[in-house]
Amino acid sequence: MKGVILAGGLGTRLSPLTKVTNKHLLPVYNKPMIYYPLEALIKAGIEDILIVTGGNNAGDFLKLLGNGNDFGLKHLNYTYQEGEGGIAAALSLAEFLCNDDKVCVILGDNIIEKNIIKAVRDFEKQPCGAKIILKEVPDPERFGVPVFKSKRIVKIEEKPKKPGSHYAVTGIYLYDKTVFEIIKTVKPSARGELEITDVNNAYIERGEMTWEGLEGWWTDAGTFESLLSANQLVAKTGANNF
Ligand code: G1P
Repeated sequence: MKGVILAGGLGTRLSPLTKVTNKHLLPVYNKPMIYYPLEALIKAGIEDILIVTGGNNAGDFLKLLGNGNDFGLKHLNYTYQEGEGGIAAALSLAEFLCNDDKVCVILGDNIIEKNIIKAVRDFEKQPCGAKIILKEVPDPERFGVPVFKSKRIVKIEEKPKKPGSHYAVTGIYLYDKTVFEIIKTVKPSARGELEITDVNNAYIERGEMTWEGLEGWWTDAGTFESLLSANQLVAKTGANNF
């Protein structure tokens, strides 16, 4: 399975911290933010990894991570996203790497306490389709939120005013190779972006979406509150533990 880390965007919700640098290079406790999703993929057994960056200081990722030697990798792949096209548009840049392989995508500002190796292994056995990872949260309206019928997800709503459940769709997504065809059919949302939620809903409509709950804490780090919380959580327990 291939791994893709989405580390583009302008990080406007963290301005002025992101005025001269990329959000994913900011510190979270004792490491740059990008270290956490990278370690999450590697600890899940994924070694062929693409970093999609964009916006400010894209070249700094190369300076910081090089060919991944510090992480035990032999090689790292990089690409650059022009402009602000959304998560699904950023993911489309990974098509060249994936060929017929499945892919595990992680948002560059998502940090987890525990290992996702079980979800990755389960998805390796899944014949086709996609898998998302859910976490119960106190503030689902900030995220993509699944609506259930029994235990099956019938749809995902992006940042709903009235959430249909207490779960957030975390920024860790597992897809088969058809994801790139699906992205080509997705239309820009009201904010002019190709939404990952629309991609996930396409898999749900096909009846090919599975999900797992996440053990341990999960946070994003794209707002001042969540960045502070990420620092505190990492300082307390560390991240990417087995
Ligand atoms: C994005 C997705 C959302 C998901 C979240 C996880 O939101 O659109 O569905 O729940 O990541 O971090 P964003 O952080 O871009 O607002």
